[in-house]
Amino acid sequence: MSAPVTMQNVTRLCTTRAIPTVNGMFPGPKIVTREGDRVVVKVVNNVKDNVTIHCRHGVRQLRTGWSDGPAYVTQCPIRTGQSFVYNFTITGQRGTLFWHAHVSWMRATLYGPIVILPKRGVPFPFPVKPYKDIPIIFGEWFNADPEAIIAQALKTGAGPNISDAFTINGLPGPLYNCSSKDTFKLKVQPGKWYLFRLINAALNDELFFSIANHTLTVVDVDAAYVKPFHTDIVLITPGQTTNVLLRAEPDAGCPAATHLMLARPYGTGQPGTFDNTTVAAVLEYAPAPGHIKSLPLFRPSLPALNDTAFASNFSAKLRSMANPDYPANVPRAVDRSFFFAVGLGTNPCPANKTCQGPNGSMFTASMNNVSFDMPTTALLQAHYSNNVAGVYTTDFPVAPLEPFNYTGTPPNNTNVSNGTKVVVLQYNTSVEVVLQGTSILGVESHPLHLHGFDFFVVGQGFGNYDPDKDPAKFNLVDPVQRNTVGVPAGGWVAIRFFADNPGVWFMHCHLEVHTSWGLKMAWVVNDGPLPEQKLMPPPADLPVC
Ligand code: C2O
Repeated sequence: MSAPVTMQNVTRLCTTRAIPTVNGMFPGPKIVTREGDRVVVKVVNNVKDNVTIHCRHGVRQLRTGWSDGPAYVTQCPIRTGQSFVYNFTITGQRGTLFWHAHVSWMRATLYGPIVILPKRGVPFPFPVKPYKDIPIIFGEWFNADPEAIIAQALKTGAGPNISDAFTINGLPGPLYNCSSKDTFKLKVQPGKWYLFRLINAALNDELFFSIANHTLTVVDVDAAYVKPFHTDIVLITPGQTTNVLLRAEPDAGCPAATHLMLARPYGTGQPGTFDNTTVAAVLEYAPAPGHIKSLPLFRPSLPALNDTAFASNFSAKLRSMANPDYPANVPRAVDRSFFFAVGLGTNPCPANKTCQGPNGSMFTASMNNVSFDMPTTALLQAHYSNNVAGVYTTDFPVAPLEPFNYTGTPPNNTNVSNGTKVVVLQYNTSVEVVLQGTSILGVESHPLHLHGFDFFVVGQGFGNYDPDKDPAKFNLVDPVQRNTVGVPAGGWVAIRFFADNPGVWFMHCHLEVHTSWGLKMAWVVNDGPLPEQKLMPPPADLPVC
């Protein structure tokens, strides 16, 4: 498919803004594919800003790292008037992923669903057969230009302005001013089963989602099937996708009643640093002939804003299928293990700036005290051409240099160091990473996203990770397999994966403000000895910096 990026005037909340879109659509077009298919997308940049598309968020890009998309990691941006063909094959994944721009804050409006159907002739492993497939993509609408918002925040070292609304399929819904006509409405037929493909493409907010009087059956997350379970409420972080089944069952007393679907944030940061509003969409049943006009409206209830207990219980319910059809290839032994302290921090205010962070400092974020500086040329190109001097260094710390009480009183010195540091892994290394949230500048949940791999979430807990006791409780049998995991506020998660995909793979917090502040790093995975274990050569049209 061809995907021209153009500016398009879009009005929400009575504010009209020219936003970057693909094909003039907001949200962008849906890519429908099957497991095993090759996907070819030609992105043509017709806007004044640089563009790159993460043509997968979650597509494994086996040996095709050039098509992964993050700017200055796998490629240089596509400049105005230029194009680049993303070309990759979907291997071993089925469910829902999404694509989004991966440069600065452009993904605020440039995003769309990727639907991956099972191979032809292979049924869904669900208890029921869905009658229809409905993408529900969450986003955030800003009345101001998001690029200007983050540029201003980075200049002042302050927190950026929050969004003005959440959206479902691009529409904020009736609970915002000047928005009731911009409501996503879905008409359903009683007795039928629907597969909802939930995608959180919001920039900075984890979300709770629920539909009044309807139970949701979770069947797939991040394009990997899970053991089905029932829930009234789903938690979904930016970067995650969740497939749920829903049986359309009208209210017995009033079969024509409508039901609200609501989403609003799970927020653990300082109030005021995230959008605390609610997006609504509507589930409608066809009114019986001659039915009255004013219909009752059912409204679901959602957990409290900072309900971390709900968040951790919900993630603990997610289990991979781990059966002969869908085995869980969990690394049982670990070749290399890492401990990353993940959180916010500060930098001294540069002389030429007026900063508005704590005590006049500049806000930043880090892993193991390293705030990642973006290079000016792509890491993958430097790696492939063996020309890394001046681009990156290979000394990313395997653990914090000075351990501290991560979830207790923050250390006096909250300053971070800066660098473009990576970890180098040999092909097929089995890797364990414990991601420990820190309470520097307050506890906060961070949705950590890894490119190029699915990982298994083998453990999670509150407080400080205990290397002597916690590994004994790890689930190595049926841990959930995914590409984005919420590091609990005031706690930790442990993930494992096989580094079987040669290339350079970004790992970052999917809250865009934290990525902008440096909560990111990269893994370099060397080629294996066999031809099919090597990164393919770069495509001829790869943009240059
Ligand atoms: Cu969905 Cu690096 O991103």
